[in-house]
Amino acid sequence: KGKRAFIAGVADDNGYGWAIAKSLAAAGAEILVGTWVPALNIFESSLRRGKFDESRKLQDGSLMEIAKVYPLDAVYDNLEDVPEDVKTNKRYAGAKNWTVQEVVESVKKDFGSIDILVHSLANGPEVSKPLSETSRKGYLAAISASSYSYISLLKHFLPIINPGGSSLSLTYIASKRIIPGYGGGMSSAKAALESDTRVLAFEAGRKKRIRVNTISAGPLGSRAAKSIGFIDKMIDYSFTNAPLQKELHAEEVGNTAAFLASPLASAITGAVVYVDNGLNAMGVGV
Ligand code: NAI
Repeated sequence: KGKRAFIAGVADDNGYGWAIAKSLAAAGAEILVGTWVPALNIFESSLRRGKFDESRKLQDGSLMEIAKVYPLDAVYDNLEDVPEDVKTNKRYAGAKNWTVQEVVESVKKDFGSIDILVHSLANGPEVSKPLSETSRKGYLAAISASSYSYISLLKHFLPIINPGGSSLSLTYIASKRIIPGYGGGMSSAKAALESDTRVLAFEAGRKKRIRVNTISAGPLGSRAAKSIGFIDKMIDYSFTNAPLQKELHAEEVGNTAAFLASPLASAITGAVVYVDNGLNAMGVGV
């Protein structure tokens, strides 16, 4: 009786979502992923053409299987939320059932239930603008895509997450320390995500004994991070200043996710777990 995981925010083999999928697969979980609609075609065709076969390899030599890829846009809860220009957009019109409610309905129809929910997505259209120059629209978009998307996913999945299940998201230390360059309200979005982790842990814990945690990850050169523009600097900074002067591997975040989703972590909920070579513990750069 293996567990089933739904991982939202996988569109290539470079990010944390992919690494988490691999660690969960290695631990025996069945893997479902939610892929952002505009990235769906390229992700599915790359999968089909074997472009990810090398990075699908698990420790034991087998290849990670993805049981199903669901198109998803986590800023829309249901069809009524979707504006006309998005509905008719070529890339969106080609896929269907990609609002949060519809994805959960599809998963329920296809598989019945899940045990593990992972939120590994973020978006802030004005991330390169300082907070004090961010527009209301940009700020709210960052919160919608990066914070409320998690509440929405958990809210809709909750009825079909098996009791004893586990929910996880990814956060960043810019929520509580000043990281110049992480703008557009993204720092605010991560602060909200961490606070929501505590409140959701209470609500999901009392309702269904489901644990809710977030991993505060160190810098990784993912597609999303590269679009922010300062990722190489952050990786260098971490390497120089963290207690552990080594590269941070996405797999280390994946393995922490597998631990947090497992019975080994049965008393851990509402936690922000740092997987960053210890950088968060430093007070000054040295
Ligand atoms: P990534 O590019 O692999 O993942 C982000 C994913 O979000 C992409 O697949 C993108 O298609 C998807 N996405 C964006 N908007 C979406 C929407 N509206 N609906 C559905 N999917 C959407 O990049 P990464 O860096 O692995 O990001 C995963 C998580 O890790 C994010 O929450 C990020 O903030 C967090 N994180 C990343 C760090 C880094 O240095 N890369 C550090 C700490 C946290």
